[in-house]
Amino acid sequence: PLTPPAHNVLVVHPHISITPEEREAVLRSVEYNVFAFPAALVSCDFLSDSGTSAVTDVQWAAMVRGDESYGRNSGYYCLLDAFRDVFERGDKQEYLFRDVLAGTTDSSFYLNKFLKPRSGGFVNGGRMQLIRPNFFIVPQGRCAEFLLFSTLANILEANRSALAWPPVIISNGFFDTTNANASVAGFELHTFLQPGLTELFPIEKVGVENPFRGNLDVAAASAFLSNPENAKRTALILLTITNNWAAGQPVSMANIKATAALACQHGIPLFFDACRFAENAAFVQVFEPGYSHMPIPQIVVDMFAHADGFTISLKKDGLANMGGALCFRDEGVFASRFTADIGIHLKERQIICYGNDSYGGMSGRDLMAAAAGLYQVTQEAYLRNRIRQVQGFAQRLVEKGVPVLLPPGGSAVFLDMDVFFADCGRSYDEFASVGFTLELLRDYGIRSVEAGPFGWEWDKKTSAKERDLIPNLVRLAVPRNVMTDVHFEYTAAAISQLYRRRHTIPGARITRGAELRIRHFQSGLEP
Ligand code: F0G
Repeated sequence: PLTPPAHNVLVVHPHISITPEEREAVLRSVEYNVFAFPAALVSCDFLSDSGTSAVTDVQWAAMVRGDESYGRNSGYYCLLDAFRDVFERGDKQEYLFRDVLAGTTDSSFYLNKFLKPRSGGFVNGGRMQLIRPNFFIVPQGRCAEFLLFSTLANILEANRSALAWPPVIISNGFFDTTNANASVAGFELHTFLQPGLTELFPIEKVGVENPFRGNLDVAAASAFLSNPENAKRTALILLTITNNWAAGQPVSMANIKATAALACQHGIPLFFDACRFAENAAFVQVFEPGYSHMPIPQIVVDMFAHADGFTISLKKDGLANMGGALCFRDEGVFASRFTADIGIHLKERQIICYGNDSYGGMSGRDLMAAAAGLYQVTQEAYLRNRIRQVQGFAQRLVEKGVPVLLPPGGSAVFLDMDVFFADCGRSYDEFASVGFTLELLRDYGIRSVEAGPFGWEWDKKTSAKERDLIPNLVRLAVPRNVMTDVHFEYTAAAISQLYRRRHTIPGARITRGAELRIRHFQSGLEP
């Protein structure tokens, strides 16, 4: 079936014109680090889909209805409601849309909201917000990770009998900041990704079938946990949906259920890294048997019914430019396993690091934008357009003969650089894929990012097993509601030109900061 356009563009951001020589001078000045390159000089910016979304008219309207009070601003209540609606109830939209955006002045709407005690889900309300807090606003996703892992590690350190040391987290894939935050806090990380990420997938089947290659390898995780020493050390199972580390691939509902069963069997809390929950739900609806008639909001609720808690960056499927949150089920496995007071400890750290519980480092405007964004992102027309756009981008590249990892994920297209450079005799420590991103930026003004041996620190891994796990990819993340087909056509043509002259693309040398943690944001390079 054809997908009609889901929106019109009403605000336009013109690009400046610039030559490759000028871009080369700027690249040199920023030590060839693509993250440090000025966005104003980029014409197609695929660096990230995070915080880069266009703001919708409904979000602008919601922002105007917010306020910037230090205590309990309106956006706080709207975001609490949006979380309950989207993750627990299936998109009821009452408070924000019927009361706040409508400008209701009748006090009963508000009193009903402010007085009602609530507990049991991910968002305690009323007096329960104070005495048993379980929902924490933070500036972005990594802050939620920091809050969770650092607090949990402190609790486990203080009570060594709760869990053997060092504690373990199991995942289908840790995003770079998640990996860094958990490692710094002292956790030992184990990635069990379903095998076959880079296996061939026929282009004719894109849009027809999906193998859900982001899935947790439940059998491998189960084998790991069958050793009682490992089970005793495992603090959390973390499912990243979609799996950004594994080329943005989705996780099936069946896999979520199997993972939840495994977690339950061992009494381990199951958390989601839920940044791209709506895109994951769209994949479930389109590709998983039995879900085609289920509305997206219901699929989301069904997914989250299996989670004991989650971290989320609202910069992705919150459609917001800033924001994040951590929450866990009131009186769930997490709370019962790691002291009933864990919410109090988390809240103390939230206040010390980010701000009072009702804003947590976000402005009132941003809270309103995220609340409205959470509702809008689960709309089917939007999601169909989104998935179709990313798929269409991958198809354009394939038509031009460029090796693309298929099927594409929800938020990005990944180039398979092992295939790209297959006949060039490149070794991983030449970082040729970084060289490719530099040529693409200099010559065409297209910004992508290497997600391979450089980004995942191939050279620092000591075991062949760890090295084998690292995919050799370049990511082109697609911002939400920002680009048109012209961007994709131009980019596919540019990459195809570079592919034809792949033998001439230089590698990259790290000139500074090779030893730094998450070095791709910080180190200096040179072609
Ligand atoms: N988890 C996942 C799966 C992510 O993709 C990201 C961010 C985070 C956590 C951290 O969230 O940026 O709000 O602090 N991903 C962005 C990206 C940066 O480009 O993939 P954050």
